[in-house]
Amino acid sequence: MSGFGSLGHTCVVGLQWGDEGKGKIVDVMLEDFDVVVRYGGGANAGHTVVIGGERFALHQLPSGVLRPNVISVVTGGVVLDPTVVLGEISSLRGRGVAVGENLRISERAHVVLPYHRLEDQLAESAAGSGARLGTTSRGIGPCYSDKMSRRYGIRVCDLYRPERLRERLGQVVAHKNAYFRALFDHRQPLDAEQIAREYLGFGEQLRPFVCDTATLLNGLIGDGRRVLFEGAQGALLDVDHGTYPYVTSSNAGAGGACSGAGVPPTVIRATMGVVKAYSTRVGAGPFPTELKDATGDEIRERGREYGTTTGRPRRCGWFDAVAARYSAMVCGATDLAVMHLDTLSEFDAISVCVGYAQRGNVSNRFPADAYEFDEIQPVYETLSGWSGDLGRCRRFDELPENARRYVQRLSELLGVRLSVISVGPQRDQTMLLT
Ligand code: GDP
Ligand code: IMO
Ligand code: MG
Repeated sequence: MSGFGSLGHTCVVGLQWGDEGKGKIVDVMLEDFDVVVRYGGGANAGHTVVIGGERFALHQLPSGVLRPNVISVVTGGVVLDPTVVLGEISSLRGRGVAVGENLRISERAHVVLPYHRLEDQLAESAAGSGARLGTTSRGIGPCYSDKMSRRYGIRVCDLYRPERLRERLGQVVAHKNAYFRALFDHRQPLDAEQIAREYLGFGEQLRPFVCDTATLLNGLIGDGRRVLFEGAQGALLDVDHGTYPYVTSSNAGAGGACSGAGVPPTVIRATMGVVKAYSTRVGAGPFPTELKDATGDEIRERGREYGTTTGRPRRCGWFDAVAARYSAMVCGATDLAVMHLDTLSEFDAISVCVGYAQRGNVSNRFPADAYEFDEIQPVYETLSGWSGDLGRCRRFDELPENARRYVQRLSELLGVRLSVISVGPQRDQTMLLT
């Protein structure tokens, strides 16, 4: 596969609620790029790459780490869990993947600490079933909260100042223990000294990878190296533009690439918006086209829709063109990658949501207020289905006519050029159309 290089520096971003297949597309596109950059999120992500018979699930490292000639960069916009990073490095090495000079980690990244994971779990349990966000329990929200509050944040660079780290952790852990006890009646206090010792050790193990990634990246760009930005989560989970509060705590949309990586907005020339041919969501929150019936179950089973990070069954439903059009706009999608087209084979009819009906009116407006979705009914356009194993198709004209019509209709509804169609998890099950 080649042909993506003409796009220039490109951001790959999910236009739905995550798990669109970004890992696969990033892996395929990297044939034509020199550098891959994770710009936000943390170990809540789960990006799957299938190479030959092997399946890799990456949570904290960029998918490009599987390609030894590509420089993989974890930037300051990411919240970094050293236990996950070190576990991933060791598991990759165990599987024969070389991880060394090709991996760079920002000294500015905030560190996910044990109290972040604990707070995530305690807050979710305390919320009760009706009020849970359904987070991944990876401590993402609490870590980003500490970063933004500035009072408690600890960054990778802090792991190289033992005295300062001990002092700071002493204050932070005392605060967290008091907070957990008062709010959640949690009576097993964390030990600051033990955490300090453990994380200073992690710092030493991470040291060979740590640098100023913003300076590194801008230098690589100046040298003419081609950079691919690997979005995590999806634009509908973006803290500013998604279905707040049922979102993650970072700017998961394309806008997050510049702030997270420390590159100027003028650098990114293209945005590859990635969508599934239907919709999925894990965790709580609005999902107007959700199918809580046999059709939803069939999509889940055919598409193997179970979370890469948590193993949770994903909620499944028809493609929501109102939501995806909004996220394509917010991300400035120039290109569209439609994934999992193979999963929709064998349905007689396939529906696409083309409008939201609310109190007698139909509109294309994507509401800011998550609770407004309770009043919304999707307005569907129904297209004829197709049958057969699309996983064998390699060219657009090999697809059944109704499958071609379907993807063209999605592109038309979103107003974004159709560039990629994926018909299976493998690298070669990919069609490049431009
Ligand atoms: P990401 O978080 O966006 O990288 O997506 P995930 O890896 O969480 O979930 C996508 C799943 O779909 C993975 O298991 C992929 O191997 C798989 N996948 C990707 N593209 C396709 C496709 O076109 N067809 C099928 N059947 N599976 C796909
Ligand atoms: P990738 O990169 C799908 C969801 C969680 C939850 C909400 C908040 O694999 O597409 P968090 O732990 O971030 O505080 O959880 O966001 N979520 C994802 N859903 N794919 C992801 O990542 C996700 N990362 C977070 O399920 O609803
Ligand atoms: Mg995923």
